[in-house]
Amino acid sequence: MDMAVTTVARPGLGPLVTGVSAVVARRLEARQTAYAVADLLRAHLPGLDLLTPEERAGSPDGYVSHLLHAEADFSIVAVVWRPGQDTVIHDHVSWCAFGVLSGIEYEILYRDMGDHLREIGRAENRPGEVSGFAPPGDIHKVRNTSDEVGVSVHVYGADVSRLGSSVRRVYELPVR
Ligand SMILES: [Fe+2]
Repeated sequence: MDMAVTTVARPGLGPLVTGVSAVVARRLEARQTAYAVADLLRAHLPGLDLLTPEERAGSPDGYVSHLLHAEADFSIVAVVWRPGQDTVIHDHVSWCAFGVLSGIEYEILYRDMGDHLREIGRAENRPGEVSGFAPPGDIHKVRNTSDEVGVSVHVYGADVSRLGSSVRRVYELPVR
């Protein structure tokens, strides 16, 4: 069933799916794809009504991912973070473009030094802001540093429904 397409009908999702399909069909190099999808996301950033009020409330147990669309070449995921919720340090199975709808996605970037990680940068992503990246050099940890529930939309260049996650590896190395 690798050609399976999963789509949940959501306001604002249709134009994004159509647009990403067209970008992916160009078969660009991964980084160029991520930048082109970021441009698309900037032009078609969905509103908070992409999610139901229940979904937008998040969970006390940690951030929640909602898989909204998945097919062989890309997936669209909405992530909901209550204030202070964060990810572990991880990298990704594919290129990614993401846009922030609410809250602040505060990102710390790391380089793998073999036996430890070194912090190489920080970025604060606020509502309306969009960016794209591709492995390698995509090791990061993300936290909602705002005092409101954070919502963001992520597009990955892989079938997340098949892989189960957009995470390639979780890093438990010390940071020095
Ligand atoms: Fe990530």
